[in-house]
Amino acid sequence: MSTEAQDGTLTVTDNRTGQTYEFAITDGTIRATELRNIRVSDDDFGLMTYDPAFMNTASCRSAITYLDGDNGVLRYRGYPIEQLAEKSTFLEVAWLLIHGELPTAAELTQFTKDIADRMSVDPSVEAAVKAYRKDAHPMGVLEAGFGQLSTLYPEAKEIESDPERMDALYNTIAKMPTIGGVAFRHNQGKDSVAPDPSLDYSTNILKMFFGADYEPDPRLVRALDILLILHADHEQNCSTSTVRSVGSSQVDPYSAVAAGIAALYGPLHGGANEAVLVMLREIGSKENVPEFVEKVKNREALLMGFGHRVYKNYDPRATIIKKACDDVFEVTGVNPLLEIAVELESVALNDEFFIQRKLYPNVDFYSGLIYEALGIPSEMFTVMFAIGRAPGWVAQWLEMINDKEQKISRPRQVYVGPDERDYVDVGSR
Ligand SMILES: CC(C)(COP(=O)(O)OP(=O)(O)OC[C@H]1O[C@@H](n2cnc3c(N)ncnc32)[C@H](O)[C@@H]1OP(=O)(O)O)[C@@H](O)C(=O)NCCC(=O)NCCS
Repeated sequence: MSTEAQDGTLTVTDNRTGQTYEFAITDGTIRATELRNIRVSDDDFGLMTYDPAFMNTASCRSAITYLDGDNGVLRYRGYPIEQLAEKSTFLEVAWLLIHGELPTAAELTQFTKDIADRMSVDPSVEAAVKAYRKDAHPMGVLEAGFGQLSTLYPEAKEIESDPERMDALYNTIAKMPTIGGVAFRHNQGKDSVAPDPSLDYSTNILKMFFGADYEPDPRLVRALDILLILHADHEQNCSTSTVRSVGSSQVDPYSAVAAGIAALYGPLHGGANEAVLVMLREIGSKENVPEFVEKVKNREALLMGFGHRVYKNYDPRATIIKKACDDVFEVTGVNPLLEIAVELESVALNDEFFIQRKLYPNVDFYSGLIYEALGIPSEMFTVMFAIGRAPGWVAQWLEMINDKEQKISRPRQVYVGPDERDYVDVGSR
């Protein structure tokens, strides 16, 4: 978090010219565009920073999520994730992320109703899903579903005006699980189950997945709600910065979210919990864990669910999720894969390779096990992540649209290709 003590100035001497420059430091940052004043000649473009993968570049000012990776701290709008996971609900957290404050009782009642009323989808969405092959990956279907929502709600192009944009943001949270449920049931050759506006959000999810007759144990519903809270936002991660970047073109929010879903699909991001399950199945039994860990150390495999770009101490979400995992297994009985996971964690946490590189279990290491215990197949894990992340995507989108400093997103490059050369006819090559 920035403090005034971090503010001041930076004096830089360009050893190419001997010139000295002074830059203001605000919130522990300097303005990258000011570096352009550093030039060796009048026609010089000016100095740039080179930062592949944005390892040290802040792209926005944000008041949504605070994350201190070294100390394992995560807060939404100032509230510690531990307190929200213990006391709040997913929809309350969604409101908090979008509106900045916890809702009053009346606001929460209205918001819960607004979301419940928006959960159903146009029949054309189910028709489109039915046109997919039975083995269509639900993340591809979800991504396309949001493209389709953009065609169904053309008024969402009014990105500067309420209520149009609030409709789109609430629709995103409400319809994400419904489209996910339609895709899930299509994979199983079943018709979809319509959402029931009288049910809470997480119960609705489980019923849309498993059938109207399914009566989930309240402890499972609560575990799911906690998982969704843990995934609700994570500041400028790959999919969120994708939503912001695509949204900066002023496309409607459904399309920006479709791009976020695509980013989340990747195995290094939301696909990791699915990859964890694949890995645990491949390991097969507790006895094979040391051999697998050796493979990881020899760079023949990655320990999926370990490591994080920003958490270099521990992932606070992993601690909460481990507890939720215990609660779920109390209801469902222990999953044999859990035994392998526990052994893997204990071997890795005591091994120099992982200690030196500060590799700890991340949120995905256990979330897949919970989903599996709930009866959700691994292809659906990333969809569950998308359902959880929807409030973060839309809150960050709204903040970006309201931020007068933001323009269309457009990084610079360092060109390293050939100098100008003449075209050669195909016959002469
Ligand atoms: C999350 C992740 C992409 C972060 O990557 P990153 O910040 O770029 O970290 P780096 O790749 O620079 O890793 C630093 C070192 O740890 C190693 N490392 C990182 N994650 C590792 C993992 N899961 N298994 C084995 N080694 C790992 C790297 O090889 C590197 O070693 P080196 O310095 O000897 O070359 C990465 O840790 C990863 O691929 N994890 C597995 C996928 C996963 O769980 N993703 C979910 C994230 S919530």
